[in-house]
Amino acid sequence: MKDKIRICFVGCGQFCRFFVPIFKNHPAVEYIAVCDKFPERSKEFSETFGANRIFDTFEEAVASDDINAVAIFTQRDLHGYMAIEALKHGKHVYSAVPMALKIEDIQEIVRLVKETGLTYMMGETGIYRPASIFCRRKYASGEMGDMVYAEAQYNHDMKRLYDVFKYTEGESWRKMAGLPPFFYPTHSTSMVLSAARAHAVKVAAFGYEDKIDTDIFGDNMNYWDNPFSNSSMLLKLSNGAIARISENRRVAWHFPETYISTFNCTNASYECSLLQHSYVRMDEKGFVDYEDVSDLLNSAESTAHKSDSEYMQKAINGEWQNTEAPIQIVNRLPKELEGLHTGHAGTHKFMVDDFCQAYATGKLSPTNAWQAARYNIPGLAAHQSALKGGVTVDVPDCGDPPAEYEVLSPDREFNEEDYR
Ligand SMILES: NC(=O)c1ccc[n+]([C@@H]2O[C@H](COP(=O)([O-])OP(=O)(O)OC[C@H]3O[C@@H](n4cnc5c(N)ncnc54)[C@H](O)[C@@H]3O)[C@@H](O)[C@H]2O)c1
Repeated sequence: MKDKIRICFVGCGQFCRFFVPIFKNHPAVEYIAVCDKFPERSKEFSETFGANRIFDTFEEAVASDDINAVAIFTQRDLHGYMAIEALKHGKHVYSAVPMALKIEDIQEIVRLVKETGLTYMMGETGIYRPASIFCRRKYASGEMGDMVYAEAQYNHDMKRLYDVFKYTEGESWRKMAGLPPFFYPTHSTSMVLSAARAHAVKVAAFGYEDKIDTDIFGDNMNYWDNPFSNSSMLLKLSNGAIARISENRRVAWHFPETYISTFNCTNASYECSLLQHSYVRMDEKGFVDYEDVSDLLNSAESTAHKSDSEYMQKAINGEWQNTEAPIQIVNRLPKELEGLHTGHAGTHKFMVDDFCQAYATGKLSPTNAWQAARYNIPGLAAHQSALKGGVTVDVPDCGDPPAEYEVLSPDREFNEEDYR
């Protein structure tokens, strides 16, 4: 029997807070440590969650034999460096998105995972979201025919995030807030690509040059000299289909944040507008059959409020966005996680469980290094295209995982042999 997971959370910020209790209660985990560059934050986490140890620095954590894994929840620009260092020190890695901000760092993570056999998982919510599950299952069943075209987006207006950046970055917060939208593409790309079972081969993209936050976006304004607050890309996929992905950071929108709006195939199509999810199928004679799949894909909590007079008003402002929908297989999760808070459309527990399962079984997580690279790299290539006014750019590919590995399906059913 393999040792249990002994994990250090690096980055005791807003997002990590939701994950510590899930990891701590997971039956595969026996030890938790915390680490933040601000000692008061790691102390507060340690007291709140009952950590076994506080590490003063990331470097001290990865060098320690007390732990065998790290969960990286620091800011976006640190994930690549920290994942590489952790793997070099023999630690398994769970990393918040994105995987890294440089193609070379992503390639290095893939290389190290291949060399060491350690578990790597990018904690990507997108593939566990109801619309992604629905399109993935329907398309895999063969019922939809051949994929033609898809659209997905991550609309996250930054106004609400500026305070978060100020909290963590102090005076330099603007430098971080101007991150190119395409450096954080995985919510949208993963939803479409996991359903398509394909990867991007070419990209052409454009950016919207920001006119509002000119002290954040533009030359010398951020670490990347990035002028774009919103960007859209057109991808040619390995299965011949086309996908449009938009990453909008200054846009009048709130919820849903990440969604597939269109998944068109030759025999059937899925469409979404706000909370209305539609599925149409065409027969051999060209007649179209309509199915309203909203109750399957919206959270059960939301559906219970469908006849409220303010239903849509509340939904687009984020109510009922945290809990599970009927399509998500909640009973495949360990019973120890029941009752714990989840988030991002009920995805958090699935991500933690898949990391733990991957570690325990030696299988690859659904968002293993190879797959995570295929969700991340298109954005990095797309930014280059947008900076050059939309020229077509090849998307570098790290390939499939080695054939000897089995990859865990995010859609697997309850298994007696899981942690029960
Ligand atoms: N849907 C999602 O998947 C989703 C949602 C929110 C955040 N995230 C990701 O989670 C990460 C964290 O986001 P957040 O909102 O919690 O940010 P945050 O700023 O609240 O937290 C980051 C923490 O990391 C700490 N830190 C920075 N450098 C460090 C170092 N060298 N060593 C140790 N600690 C260090 C900071 O002090 C801070 O407490 C981000 O990378 C973000 O991309 C993902």
